[in-house]
This record gives sequence, C-alpha cells and structure tokens, in this order.
Amino acid sequence: MCGIVGYLGYREAYPILINGLKRLEYRGYDSAGVALIDGTGKLNVYKSKGKVSDLEAFVQTKSSEGNIGIAHTRWATHGEPNQINAHPHYSSSENLALIHNGIIENYGVLKEMLIHNGYEFKSSTDTEVLVQLIEFIRNKEKTDLVSAVQIALSRIVGSYAIAILEKNNPDCIIAARKSSPLVVGVGNGEYFIASDATPIIEYTSSVIYLNDKEMAILHRYDGLKIVTLDNEELAQVVVKLEVTLSQLEKGGYEHFMLKEIFEQPRTILDCTRGRINIDGTNVALSGIIDHKQKFLNARRIIIVACGTSWHSALIGEHLIETMCRIPVEVEYASEFRYRNPVINNDDVVIAISQSGETADTLAAVELAREKGAFIYGICNVVGSSIARRTHTGSYIHVGPEIGVASTKAFTGQVTVLVMMALTLAKERGTIDERYFRDVVSELNKIPQKIEEILIQNDMIRQLAIPFTYARNFIYLGRGVSYPVALEGALKLKEISYIHAEGYPAAEMKHGPIALIDAEMPVVVLATKSSVYDKVVGNIQEIKARKGTVIAIVTKGDSEVGKMADFVIEIPPTIECLDPLLSSIPLQLLAYHIAVNKGRDVDQPRNLAKSVTVE
Ligand code: G6P
Repeated sequence: MCGIVGYLGYREAYPILINGLKRLEYRGYDSAGVALIDGTGKLNVYKSKGKVSDLEAFVQTKSSEGNIGIAHTRWATHGEPNQINAHPHYSSSENLALIHNGIIENYGVLKEMLIHNGYEFKSSTDTEVLVQLIEFIRNKEKTDLVSAVQIALSRIVGSYAIAILEKNNPDCIIAARKSSPLVVGVGNGEYFIASDATPIIEYTSSVIYLNDKEMAILHRYDGLKIVTLDNEELAQVVVKLEVTLSQLEKGGYEHFMLKEIFEQPRTILDCTRGRINIDGTNVALSGIIDHKQKFLNARRIIIVACGTSWHSALIGEHLIETMCRIPVEVEYASEFRYRNPVINNDDVVIAISQSGETADTLAAVELAREKGAFIYGICNVVGSSIARRTHTGSYIHVGPEIGVASTKAFTGQVTVLVMMALTLAKERGTIDERYFRDVVSELNKIPQKIEEILIQNDMIRQLAIPFTYARNFIYLGRGVSYPVALEGALKLKEISYIHAEGYPAAEMKHGPIALIDAEMPVVVLATKSSVYDKVVGNIQEIKARKGTVIAIVTKGDSEVGKMADFVIEIPPTIECLDPLLSSIPLQLLAYHIAVNKGRDVDQPRNLAKSVTVE
C-alpha cells in the first residue's frame, strides 16, 4: 500500500516520477505528491488529492524542473485522503521532504515529545512525525542526515519504506525499509528507487532488493551505498529483472482486468512450463522434490493467505486432502498471526500471495518460522518479501497483475496447488497411476478449454446487462466449487460495489434462503461433479422461491437448463480442475456488470493491490 518512487541522475526527474507513480497506482490512489530539487537548489513539494492524473494537472502550471526527486501515491491509513495528508511531508524547517509506505505504531508518543520540543504539525499522518523526528535528531545531536535517519528509525515501532530529500544536500536520496518493500534500480550514472520494480524496468534491468532494516544512500558523485541501521556497509547483490515493458501495458484492452482475464490460457501454460514433462504424462514441482522429506514427514499442512489467495488456499485444502491424505488447515493470515497458533516443527506452512508483500501473510510466515515450521511460498512477484522469507516455494509465473481484482493470479495459484498435490500424492503413493495421468493430461488441456470459455465473452456481456442495477447477489457452490463461489462473489463486490455473498450451496438453507425472492440473482456452480445431483436440488429450492438463477454448467448439460434462467456452459474436465474453468465466466460477469455501472474497474474505491499494512 502506498507507492514510492525516486530518481537521481542526469534526466528530468519529474516525467520519470509521474510515470513511475502511474505504474504503482495499483498500490493506492487517494492522493499523490512529488518533491523535486531544482538547479538552483530549491526544494519544491507538490501534492494533490485524488489520482496521479490529478497531481499532473496540478503541477502543469508549476516548475517541475530538477534531476533529483521523490514521489508518492497514497492509500490512507492515518488521516483522511486530502492534500494536507498527502506525501511528501516537510520537516518544520522545510529542509527535509519525506515519503513513507507503512505504519508508525508509536507515532503518538513521538508526536507528543516533538510538540513538547516546539514542533508543530500540519497533517494528521504518522509520516509527518517521522520527518520531524529526523530533523529534531539532526539538530539536537548535530549529526549528518544518514546518522539522524538511522537514530530515528531505531526509535520507531512499525513498518516503513521511506525516501528522503534534503534541500541542503541536493545530490543525495536516502531510502530505508522495514516490512514494506523497496527496490533500488542501478542505471548508468543514475539511480532509481521504487516500491517494486515496475517503475524501473524502462530504464534499467539491474536492481537491488533492500532487506529489512537496510538503508540505501544514493549519491550523484559518491555512488550507491547499502548500509544497516548500525551503519555497517553491505555487499550489493544486483539482480537482473525479467519483466518486460509490454507486460505492463494494456495491450489494446480497455482495462488491465480484461487483459488479465484473457491472458489466462497463456499464463497457465507459463505456470506449468518445465513442470509437466514434454509428453504431458508427468508433473514435478522442484520445491517439493528438493524438500521431499519435509513433506513426507509432515503431520499437517497449514495454508495462510488473504483475499483471493485465501480462496485458492481453500481449493488447495480440497486438493491436498483428497489426493495426498494429509490434514490441511486454511487460515486467514491476519487471524493466524494474532491467536498464538499451535505450530510444530513437523508442520508445513504454505503461504500464498500474489504480491508477496501482504503484511499479514508476511507476519504469519515470520511467526511460523520462529516456531520451527517449514515454510513454502506460492508467490507471483519474483524477489518479493514473502518469496525471500520462505524456505522454498514455487512462483506462479503469470506475469505482472495490475488490475486490483485478482484474476490470472488466482488461476495460477490453483494451477501450482494442483501440481503440488499431484507431486506430493505421487511421492506418498496416495493416488493411483491412472488418476495421476488423467489429471496431468487434463491440466494440459486447460488453456485450450479456457479459450473456449473466453469466446463466450460477448454472450456474458449481454447476460450482465439486466443485472447492472441488482443490489445483492448470492453465489453458491459445493465441494471444490465452494471457494469458486466465494471468489465469484468477491470479484463482483470488489469492482461493482454490489453486495454479494458466497455460500456453500446446502448451507443456504440455514439462513441466506430467507433473502431469496424474485429480486435476488443467484449464481450457482452446477458443473458435472460428485455433488451435481445435490446442487440440482439446491437450484430447485431457489426456483421454488422465485430467485433468478445464473448457472455455470458443463457443456451438454440438459437438466439444469430447464430450471435456470441463464446458463453459461464450460467444457467438461476432471472435477478437481473445475475451478480453473468455472472461475473464468464469474470473472467476466463481474467485469461486465462493473463496466455497465461505470465503475473504475482497475482501481476500485478503497482497495489496493498490495496490502502492506496490517
Ligand atoms: C488485496 C488485493 C486482493 C488480494 C489480496 C491478497 O486485497 O486487492 O486482490 O487477493 O490483497 O494479496 P496477495 O498479494 O497476498 O495475494
């Protein structure tokens, strides 16, 4: 949450910063700001409420000169989203400007201390406390800026990724991180900093991922130094980026979300590439094979995740329990970390996170590590914090996901979980060879089958029209389709702001059935499965109460069509892979309803793609 970008070099900084903020806007978009030092040594700070485009409009008539600067796009935590609370924040003397991603938990006591020492505050943010604290220490201890920042950060409780500019020191940016991501880009005679690598890749593919409690000192003449908060200099580990610029563009689609939905045939192929053998008969995940004993000895698997990744985790529970016969527990990372969970050293903890930066999931990983569990990460963003804090893992390799509502990352996560379950089941001997081969062979056909669903996009667009003004939706599924119902409901509420609930189909009788009347659309996952007949029974219960049923069915089904008001067909597949197909029409349905309502599909209100605060 909150995006940070900085530039120091020979080019005009402002266009680089604005472009960078636009790439980071998925992290937050309620206000934005920029600080630049121009050729005369003047430090200009410009801020505005709203999106980066609002900031651009605001700066249009002002001087945006300078080849050093820092910029920020905000997702409010402390203080409402307005111009005053937007970053960068000045220190009292206006000599320092600071941007921050994270939360300073002890800001209250620090603020009191600073007020006692004569400091005044303009905003209600925790960030302004930090910049004032740095200035206070700088003046009181008569230290240089680096030492003042180090002392200030050692007094802070909480999380931060920060960047600071000093007016009297116009050739230097200082950046530091703890629990919030920060990447340094190393160009030829220029440096970049950013919350992730996306603002940097246009300029250089060489990056350094800062670790917790590390600080980067970028200097025009002295070069780059990475130091600890105790000022111990560290070796610079430069990593080559693999993301390309075209992966970050919309590629002709109206929204990133639509592009990402349509990318899924390819992203699933990318995810399975090198993991399924050439003739499509075997699957092996190296993360499992290399740590076979940990998994074979595991008495229990705990999966921790948030949001859409938590829904994938529920599918993972179903797959691993069915195929591998290992008990699996699925936990919201935010609950797990605060309830003193029982974790043993023969537990395996799987952390699922698209961004690899979700604060609660990262904290759950740290907790499980402390308690001795073996940790496996399923992440998308290469080099992300969670990927680096787990013992091993598998990337989903679906490429950058920009739309705030997760689509291709969900199917990528499920694909990895299928491959995990297959690999593990084979090692444990808990499934027969024939079933193993059937699942692998079907997994190979999934990209083609998703293509067949995507062809129905126009039909789904039409189908969405009558639901534009629906006020509520219910999504029902059973077995492995229950998490798909949860995910379908989440997609709809995230981007259309229509209230939607996902429920296990049979459980509907214990409450939600009271909501059903002619005004209530009910999306039912009714594909051919071991619980098909039961779901048909549930559809009858809805129709008896005049609910409007939109059913997702297996191609060729004739029974459900007689009862449902609308039907979307998906190709047949093996039951455990059904979520990879049935989730696609639900993504499209949510997308078209949100577009019809004129919603900001890629950047829905109040949400952020990467939730780096707890
Ligand atoms: C946010 C995003 C969701 C995502 C969730 C977990 O809420 O808007 O799309 O599912 O965070 O994120 P992660 O990166 O850990 O998968």
